[in-house]
This record gives sequence, structure tokens and C-alpha cells, in this order.
Amino acid sequence: MISEPAEASSTSRIPNFFRMPIQARITALHERGLLTDADLRLLESGDHTLKRHVADKMIENVVGVLGLPLGLGLNFLINGRDYVVPLSVEEPSIVAGLSGAARTARLSGGFDAAATDPILIGQVQLVDAADPDRAAETLLAHKQDILDLANSLHLRMVARGGGARDLEVFRHHAPEDGREMTVLHLLVDTRDAMGANLVNGMCEGIAPLVESLTGGKVFLRILSNLTDRALVRASVRIPVENLAAKGFEGAAVRDGIILANDLARVDPYRAATHNKGIMNGVDAVAIATGNDFRAIEAAAHAYAARDGRYRGLTRWTRNSDGDLVGELDMPMKVGTVGGSLETNPTVRINHRLLGSPGATELAGVMGAVGLAQNYAALRALTTAGIQQNHMTLHARSVASAAEVPEGLFERVVEGLIESGEIKVWKARELAEAIGREPRAGAVADDAPTSSACGKVILLGEHAVVYGRSALAAPIPLAVEARISEAREGVHISIPRWGLEQRMPPADRHPDGAPGILATLLRRLELADRAMTIEIVPHVPRAMGLGGSASLAVAVLRALDAHYALGLADEEINAHAFQCEQAAHGRASGVDNTVATYGTPLLYRNRETPAFETVPAARCLPLVIGIGSQASLTAHTVRRVHAAWKDRPARYDAIFDQIESLTHAAVEAMRNGFLDDLGELMNLCHGHLNALQVSTPELEQMVHIARTNGAVGAKLTGGGGGGSIVALAPRARDRVGDALQAAGFETLSFDIE
Ligand code: MEV
Repeated sequence: MISEPAEASSTSRIPNFFRMPIQARITALHERGLLTDADLRLLESGDHTLKRHVADKMIENVVGVLGLPLGLGLNFLINGRDYVVPLSVEEPSIVAGLSGAARTARLSGGFDAAATDPILIGQVQLVDAADPDRAAETLLAHKQDILDLANSLHLRMVARGGGARDLEVFRHHAPEDGREMTVLHLLVDTRDAMGANLVNGMCEGIAPLVESLTGGKVFLRILSNLTDRALVRASVRIPVENLAAKGFEGAAVRDGIILANDLARVDPYRAATHNKGIMNGVDAVAIATGNDFRAIEAAAHAYAARDGRYRGLTRWTRNSDGDLVGELDMPMKVGTVGGSLETNPTVRINHRLLGSPGATELAGVMGAVGLAQNYAALRALTTAGIQQNHMTLHARSVASAAEVPEGLFERVVEGLIESGEIKVWKARELAEAIGREPRAGAVADDAPTSSACGKVILLGEHAVVYGRSALAAPIPLAVEARISEAREGVHISIPRWGLEQRMPPADRHPDGAPGILATLLRRLELADRAMTIEIVPHVPRAMGLGGSASLAVAVLRALDAHYALGLADEEINAHAFQCEQAAHGRASGVDNTVATYGTPLLYRNRETPAFETVPAARCLPLVIGIGSQASLTAHTVRRVHAAWKDRPARYDAIFDQIESLTHAAVEAMRNGFLDDLGELMNLCHGHLNALQVSTPELEQMVHIARTNGAVGAKLTGGGGGGSIVALAPRARDRVGDALQAAGFETLSFDIE
């Protein structure tokens, strides 16, 4: 049986996780202690996947490695413990459906799950015994000898508390061959191992004894995938008030789920689809945890037909309080040691995400996931229907891709569905239209929202560290912030990053956003005021897009508005610069200046920093492609510095080249020569390549942008990960769509 954990693990509720960029999701997991530092680095660098040379040792004729999305099922509360569940699957809506079902289940205590001991059956087929009935009796009479022999072959499993436990014998008549068959079942407790090799080995090892005891001939010696001695039972209770859906009362949803389930109990055509849905969840965990999903599938379907008719694996009923009650019973023979767990780094991370469970605990989690999936599917089918569900999810992801601000999000999603035009451009159009409407309602909504720009370097990164110039442009509306009164203390709310916390005491020096805010409040002497600081970032963190400076400036402006501080731009810039220094140690000053003034500028830092604004004669349509790896700015700056120190003349020549391209770009911008500006960006990218700060992923994005009509595309910022910037005067949407189609997030905007 699944035992209760010694202590509760971290929570699996991460608000707005689905809206965060991938990088922020990884950071949120790390901040909650769900990922180790090493896991964080692997996921950030994209180095967590199975390597080709390892794959080559796993199967034959390897030519590559196939990727699958890895998502997380959130909100799972199983036996009173929180689980973040790794899911690897290609079908949309499964992860969202599971997280939604788990959220509903946790309102009434979550799932209960219990698994039997992990027994795997091995079969030994015996023929040609002179008297098959006698042979069966002899085998049973020598049960202990056979078990002892089997266990002597695997003493380590016995030492781990497992081993051959029991023996059963069956008789069959071979329909074609005509002979009588005696079949011995060896019942082996394989503990945390899946146990296939172990059981096959035992079956082969006992075969000579079986032959000598019976005088017959052993034929097959192999495990059975009908693993009905390793069962899981998961259950859940959902009160009707938690079942109501848009346009459907809770009681109607409950009765609909019971009726839908009844069809799967009696009709194999529906049962197959019903069980396929359950396996959507179960297989996704099996693949993510390196388990043999074909074995689990085989067991599930054979078990579903155990009474001679194929049926659904769940039961949904109503209890005396009128609550909906769901139960799932199915075989779940899984392993948490050995196999691909040892070879695939992602599988190892996934086990850690689950809290490194043993096999019976993992079986319980998978049972709960199967039941949650079935609930999600039946609920969707009995209410709006699967297609409508898919459409809502699609609309949400399109609204996210369009960077629709938090406060407008739900209305834009509704508008997209109503219009039937679920496109990024439509989401932006709706957001603009809704944003123009006067704001109604609650006090907090009346608090003025302040915003600040992010920055993108068009040309000059790295060279700027060596006294050359950089040309930077603003990313509009990168961060929004507002302040409202609170009863006591300072509350920080950044729902997009899943960050809701009280400001740590002044003597602790927090990192990240709380660190920036602590610096600001100290400098403005506001640390003892009670307030809520609400922040909505539209640019991801650690992507070289000036997110931290933008956050500082947006909050400064919000504090200025709320407390009527009368701060001038220069003061805002100076405060933000201090935050940057506190956060990054060595800040150039370009990020806070662009964030404050919101104009393109040429930045130079010979002895003292100097800025010059650069008006663009024509509108610059830009697309930022955001990669999956965080920008390693500090690392690449260090590497380039080491190379420069070794051979200063060689590297200074490159920095001079970049400098002259940057000045030419300023001229191109002033004159509105966008094709020329694009070409200069391309050339600059070539020099950044010479400095070896690009990555295959950045190259891929640059290539996609150029082949889809960008006149210029280059990495932006420190490199080693992070983002690219593309100038696309005639093809902004095409470039954005192509990058998104290749799986990258994008930001598209015009610099006027
Ligand atoms: C789709 O992958 C799974 C469903 O068809 C399951 C079901 O019908 O129960 C939605």
C-alpha cells in the first residue's frame, strides 16, 4: 500500500504557470525547490535530452533522437501530498485537462490512491508430461523448492525485500497443436524495478527443475504483461458545487458523467475510446518516467476485458450526499530504478520532480492521473464538447502569444472564440479595442498603471564593453506596474511568474524582483509603508531584453504616481541604475536609460557613460525571437574578455569593425534606409559569430527570420542563449509566425 510521506513536499499550485514563458516556468520550479541547481542548468541549457551516442547503445541502427514535448500536470494532491506530474505527450489539451481536473479534485481533498505489492507474473509453459494433471500437482507440491531455486538466482532482489513469492498452476488444451499444456505462474515481487529481465531470468532458471520434476518439456519461459497482481485503485469525490460549468449546473454535470461512464461499462466501442483517454494521462507519465508504456497499455486493455467483455476501467457514481464519486482500478506495473532511468537525463529530472517515489507510490500517482484524465474528458464531453474545449485552449495560447495584458486576457479569449478568428493579429486587435474602453469597477482597478520599456540591442553588444558604441531600441510596454493600499507590510504580486509574497525583512538581501523592489523602497524611504505592488511583465527574464531595468522603472513610475513623489526622469533613471548595479554588479546603464526614456539611443562608455538619442526617420518593424535557453551574458562576456586578453590586437580589430557598423547603422536609421540597416545587422551578427557567442538555436532563429523576409536578423545581447532581433519592414507577421511555428516565442512591435 502507498505509505504517507514523512513530510509534505512543495506545493504543486503555481498560479498562471501556463501563461509564463518557458524560462520563467523553469525558474518558478527551481524557486519552489522542485528542481536542483543541476536540473535547472540542464533544462536552461537544453542539455537535458538523451544524447545520440547513448541512444546508439540502447537500440539498433540509430540515426537520431526523437523529441516529444514535456509538460507538467499541476495541482495534484494525492493521499494528502502535492505532486507536480511530468507528462510527455504530443496531443494538445491533455496537460491542461489534467491540471484543471486536479484543481477541482483538490478542492475536496484530492485523490486517494493505493497500490498492491508490485508482483510480476512469469509463465513457464510445460508440454509432453505423461500425466498433465499429475504434473500440476507435483509442481504445487514442490512449490518451496521452485521458489528457493528462483530466489537463489537473484539474491540481490531478495535482499531488497523482493523475490519469488508464490506459484500457481493452470491447465490448457492447445487448440491447434492438440497437446495438453500445464502452465506454471511464478509470482515475483520486483520492488522498485519493473522486473522484466529478472522474471524472465527466473523462469529460464527454474525450467530444468520443472522438467525433471514432471518429466515434461518446457517451452515458453517469459513474463506476462497481464499484470493483474500489481493493481492500483484511485478514487476521488467531487461535490456538485465544484462541478458546475458555463451554462451547466453541477448536478447536471454529475449525472452526465455517470451516464457517459455507464455507456463505457456496457459498450466496447465506447469503452475503447474511454480507456484511450485514461491512457492519454497514464502513458504520458510512463514515457516521462522512462517506463514501458506498451506493457502498461497491454495490461490495461487485457484487464478491461477480464470478465469476457471489454469495459471501461472507471466507475462514476453518486454518494448519499449527492457528490460525484469516481474510481479507477487497473494494473500498474512500473519501475523507478534501472532501465532508461539510468540513461536519459530528462527521465532522472522527472523522477526528482515527483519527489523520487518508489514503484508503488508512482503507480498511485499514475492511477490518479488516469482518473483525472477520465474526469476531464467526460466533463468536457458532457458539457461544451471536446472541440469547444480545444478551441478555448487554443484561444488562450494565442492570447498569450499576442502578449495580451493580464487585465484584458479573459475578455480577449472570449472575443477570439466568438469571432471564430483565433489568430494573434485578432487578439492584438481585440486587446487594443478593449484597452480603449473606460475601466470600470473595483478600487484596485482604478489604481493607475505605469509602464516602462525593455531594450533590444540592434548593434554593438560585446564591443560596448571595450569602449565602443551600442545602438539600442526600446521594447514598448515591457512591464506594467501599479500600487494599491494594503493593511500592513509590502506585498509583491507578479502572477505571470507565479510570485506572490511579502517583502522579506530589510536585513535580508533578496535576489531577483524582490531584490530590485527592496532597493527601490529603501532608496525612496518607503520601506515602512503598507502597499501591494502588482507587476505584469510582458518580456521574459534573463533573455537579454532589459526586463529587470524595465521592472525597476515601471515600479518607480507607479510609486511616483501613488505617493505623488514628483520624480523627474533623470532621478528615475538614476534610481533604476542603482537597482541594476545591485542586481547585476556591473551594469552598463543602457537598459535603465532605454527603459526610462523609451527612445532608440546610441550608448558609449569611454571614461564616462554618454547617451545620444537616435530618432528613426521611418518606423522600424521588429520581431524578437526568444529561445529556450537563458542568455549567459556574464559567461560570454568573461569568455570574450579572456580571448581579448590573450590576443588584444586580433579582438580589438573585431570591436572596431562592430563600432563602424554601429555608426553606419545610426546613419541608416536617421535616413530611413531600412534595407541598409538590416544588412548592417547581418554583418554585425557575423562578427558576433567570430566572437563565438552564438548558439545553434540562435542560428536557427536567425535563419528562419532571414528566409521569411527579414532584411536583417542577429542575436541580441550577450548571446550563449537568449534572443534574436529581426528587422522585417515588409514581413513582420510572416517572420513572427514562422518563428512561432518552429516553437519559439516572439514579440513583435514597431519603433516609431
Ligand atoms: C482523446 O484523446 C480522448 C477522448 O476521446 C477520451 C474520451 O472520449 O473519453 C476525449
